[in-house]
Amino acid sequence: MEADNATVVVAREVTRRYGEGETAVDALRGVSVEVPRGKLTAVMGPSGSGKSTLMHILAGLDKPTSGSVAIAGKEITTLSDSDLTKLRREHIGFVFQFFNLLPMLDAGENITLPLSIAGEKPDPGYYDQLVAAVGLGDRLSHRPAELSGGQQQRVAIARALVSRPDVVFADEPTGNLDSHTGHEILELLRHSVEQLGQTIVMVTHEARAAAIADRVLYLADGLIVRELAGATQHEINEAMEEIAQA
Ligand SMILES: Nc1ncnc2c1ncn2[C@@H]1O[C@H](COP(=O)(O)OP(=O)(O)OP(=O)(O)O)[C@@H](O)[C@H]1O
Ligand SMILES: [Mg+2]
Repeated sequence: MEADNATVVVAREVTRRYGEGETAVDALRGVSVEVPRGKLTAVMGPSGSGKSTLMHILAGLDKPTSGSVAIAGKEITTLSDSDLTKLRREHIGFVFQFFNLLPMLDAGENITLPLSIAGEKPDPGYYDQLVAAVGLGDRLSHRPAELSGGQQQRVAIARALVSRPDVVFADEPTGNLDSHTGHEILELLRHSVEQLGQTIVMVTHEARAAAIADRVLYLADGLIVRELAGATQHEINEAMEEIAQA
């Protein structure tokens, strides 16, 4: 299951069952997906359809019940916890809905945390470019509690990008922001794809957010049921309605 250079993530027949016996939940029922490099892929679908489960498994934060996942050509489902942690650190960034910043570190320290943990320093040119891109120049010495939600999410995005990972997973990155701030965050994600060559997979409920994606995948009941490329907000909404009625 080698990922070639144009494909960052290759998942094959991934299933995930939570619990066992009569109360078991099959959150994923055989998902195969390839994530193309340098593109933004959106994942949509009703609540409970398995979006977060899929993101966690693709990012190596959870293991599938069966199936395979390769990141940058390396099968991750069979790695030991320490090898997986190392691979995540080098190849994967994650942006959560609720920012997940460390409260005692300032914005700049939060951004560089993935590198500090690995005993590394950011490439100065890239770091400056990143801080400029996320628009945090004068807030870098503030702690998360002194930042707005949008600023906190910008810190979280910069943190996900700082190690130049092969792929960034974002689970509803605008889900906890007002519409205007959400729009700014979407522009930032799009910018990072176009200007920094980043690969992003983003879960969203909003057609407006998915419309910035190169490709939209729809999950329903643990399966990918539809895929759109370069779709408009209107087409994305129509597909969502059809899937909700199916
Ligand atoms: N830790 C868990 N234990 C048991 N069941 C779980 C667990 N996590 C998720 N599930 C179940 O798995 C299914 C998929 O959940 P998941 O969180 O992936 O959905 P989602 O598409 O992200 O939904 P939402 O849009 O509400 O975030 C749901 O039925 C959920 O109840
Ligand atoms: Mg979810």
